[in-house]
Amino acid sequence: MPADINDDASGIKGEMEREIVLGRNIHTDCWEVKEPDADDEVTGERKASMASVLAPYRRTLIERTKNHLGYPINLDFEYGALAQFQHFSINNLGDPFIDESNYGVHSREFEVGVLDWFARLWELEKNEYWGYITNCGTEGNLHGILVGREVYPDGILYASRESHYSVFKAARMYRMECEKVDALAPKVTFKKPIGSVSVSGHKFVGCPMPCGVQITRLEHINALSRNVEYLASRDATMMGSRNGHAPIFLWYTLNKKGYRWFQKEVQKCLQNAHYLKDRLRDAGIGAMLNELSSTVVLERPLDEEFIRKWQLACQGNIAHVVVMPNVTVEKLDKFLNELITRRATWYGDDGKHQSPCVASNIGKENCLCFLHK
Ligand SMILES: Cc1ncc(COP(=O)(O)O)c(C=O)c1O
Repeated sequence: MPADINDDASGIKGEMEREIVLGRNIHTDCWEVKEPDADDEVTGERKASMASVLAPYRRTLIERTKNHLGYPINLDFEYGALAQFQHFSINNLGDPFIDESNYGVHSREFEVGVLDWFARLWELEKNEYWGYITNCGTEGNLHGILVGREVYPDGILYASRESHYSVFKAARMYRMECEKVDALAPKVTFKKPIGSVSVSGHKFVGCPMPCGVQITRLEHINALSRNVEYLASRDATMMGSRNGHAPIFLWYTLNKKGYRWFQKEVQKCLQNAHYLKDRLRDAGIGAMLNELSSTVVLERPLDEEFIRKWQLACQGNIAHVVVMPNVTVEKLDKFLNELITRRATWYGDDGKHQSPCVASNIGKENCLCFLHK
C-alpha cells in the first residue's frame, strides 16, 4: 500500500481530505434476491433470469480488470487446472500443524507447503516457525499484533507512521498504547529480531480470492492458542473456518513460478514504474517514485470518471498508479495517452484552470504546476 494513502489512526482529518460519500443508491442498484415462483423450476425462467444478470456482470469484470491500475493487486494469473476444486467445500479450520482435525475436507498439506516456501524466503527454519494462510494481509497484522500483546501484555505498539491502517485498527481493537515512529520497510528476514511477518497473497502473487500468509516464531504462538475439543485441534488463528481453496491457489502459482520469477517480475515492475514516471514528467505532469517502489504518485486527475475508469487510489490532490506484474508498457501508454488528451481539455490554454500544485505531497522538485515548472 502506498504510504500516502494510509489512514491516520488519530482520526484527524488531513487538510486535503475529501468527504467520503456513502453509496446513496446501493439498494436501488443491487441485484435483488427474488423469491422463486412455484413453477420456476419447470419453466427454467429462474435460471435464464439469473444468467441475464451474470453475463453482463462478467463483461463488467473483464472491462474493469483491463483498466485497473490503482491498487497493488496482480490481476494476471491462470488457474484453469484448479476449477475442478470448486465443487468442494474446502475448509482449513483449526491449526495447520495439528495432524488431523475432525473436519476432513481440508487442504492443510498445501497450506503447510506454502508456509514452508515463505519461511525459507524469510530465513526461518521449519522447526522454528508457526503460521497459517489468512483471509488477507489485515488478518495477519491483527494476528501478529495480538501475539505481540499476549507475549508483552503491557507492551507499547511502535508503528511506522506510514503503516497500513490495519495496524492502527489493531491498536484500537486491543486497546494498546500506540506510538508512531519514522521508519521505512526494511528487508524482511527472521535473522533480525522480528516476531512475525504478514503479507497479502492476492497482491503481487496474484490469486482470485483475497488471502494472506502469516508466519510467526513458534516460541510465541503458545501464548495465544487454546485447545478445542470440538475440533480436535488447537485454536491459534483469528478466524474459525478458513478458506481451504486459497492455499491450493498459492501452492499452484508458487510451484509454477518459483523465487526466480518473483525476482524478475519485481525488476520488470520497477522498470515499468520508472517508465511511467518519466513519461508523465516529459508530458509536464508532476510525478514521484520512491526508491524500490513501483507506486507512481501523480497529480489527481480532474475528472472523477477518469479516476473510476482506471480505478486510481486517490487522496487529496494526488493519485497512485501501482505497477504490478499485469501492468504492461502498452497499458501504461494507453493510460498516458488518455490522460494527456483529457488533461488538455481540463487545463486549456486560456489560463483559467491550472493543474493542482502537489509540491506538499511529492516535493517541489517533482511538482510541475505553474509555480514549480
Ligand atoms: C503493509 C500492508 N499491510 C496490510 C495491508 C492490507 O492487506 P489486505 O488488503 O490483504 O488486508 C496492506 C495492503 O495494501 C499493506 O500494504
